[in-house]
Amino acid sequence: MAQRVRLPYKLLRLQEHASGPRSKPLSRPSLARGRQLRIQYYQVRLSSTAIPQSKNDTVLAKQTSGVSSAPLTWPHKGWDDKVVLEVVPSHRKPRTVSDRIAWGMDFLTGMPPELKPDGKHRKATAYTPMTESQWLVRFVFLETVAGIPGAVAGGLRHLHSIRRFKLDQGWIKTLLEESYNERMHLLSFLAMYPPGRLMRCMVFATQGIFYNTMFIGYLMSPSFCHRLVGYLEDEAVATYTKCLEEMDKGRLPKWTDPSFKIPDIAIKYWNMPEGRRTMRDLILYIRADEASHRGVNHTLGNLDQTSDPNPFIEQHSNVSHMHLAAVKPAGLEREEVLEKYAR
Ligand SMILES: [Fe+2]
Ligand SMILES: [Fe+2]
Repeated sequence: MAQRVRLPYKLLRLQEHASGPRSKPLSRPSLARGRQLRIQYYQVRLSSTAIPQSKNDTVLAKQTSGVSSAPLTWPHKGWDDKVVLEVVPSHRKPRTVSDRIAWGMDFLTGMPPELKPDGKHRKATAYTPMTESQWLVRFVFLETVAGIPGAVAGGLRHLHSIRRFKLDQGWIKTLLEESYNERMHLLSFLAMYPPGRLMRCMVFATQGIFYNTMFIGYLMSPSFCHRLVGYLEDEAVATYTKCLEEMDKGRLPKWTDPSFKIPDIAIKYWNMPEGRRTMRDLILYIRADEASHRGVNHTLGNLDQTSDPNPFIEQHSNVSHMHLAAVKPAGLEREEVLEKYAR
């Protein structure tokens, strides 16, 4: 249904400039009000249903053109309830030195354990549960990083295919689809948490560093990069599982409140059925996506990077590739993949 929105402060200024000389200066809204306006702005920007209602909304319409009306590039195939609930945190044991290095490099994304100050952990401070806003800060930041590896790997494999005049063994689509999926996670959280200046600066810097590091790393050792991403996804599953546990313990009352609404973009992307549109459902879906990335990347890390086929391309399997990957936390072994193709 169409909805009317208030314009954020910056857009009000723009609108005023557009309508002639300013007669009296606008007073800056309070911080809380400004934040509320930014939330509304992102909700409209990311909504597929909001349509500007009046002449006053034309600036907003211009800002959001092409965002609200664009169809989904890769609509989600949906999750089987059984698979969603079957997902569990796991850790693939490192087998080689390279695996150990990849696992060691993952220390930045892990959740701190819930320690109690006792004889064993004297320096531990009492665990303070995170609030909804703190969770969203974490999710938004991590998802901006998570969208990078698939895009780098898919892009480089695309270039390789063009350069070498050969097929890609079905890897490119899965990798690009993964980065698209991560971006939809980010956009869903953004509609609930509009980032401030500090967060934008951090994302800007992190993207510059991580993209270029990944680019060089993937040229040098694609299997190492897939293993690293596999371990990052291990942590992502653990993080979302922890969030679900916190919800179940009643520590996130805003999200468990029946009146809490998740963003339109999430409902549309995951095609979430009526009655199953709570924040808990959304986190369950996102966790299942992360579990699928975990299985895909651990599998790709096990394969010969130049000659082996991608076993997650749909036509090679009668199970959706995301479902297959989600229930294989350590990925498929190379022998399993080759055997599947030999059949
Ligand atoms: Fe994600
Ligand atoms: Fe992921």
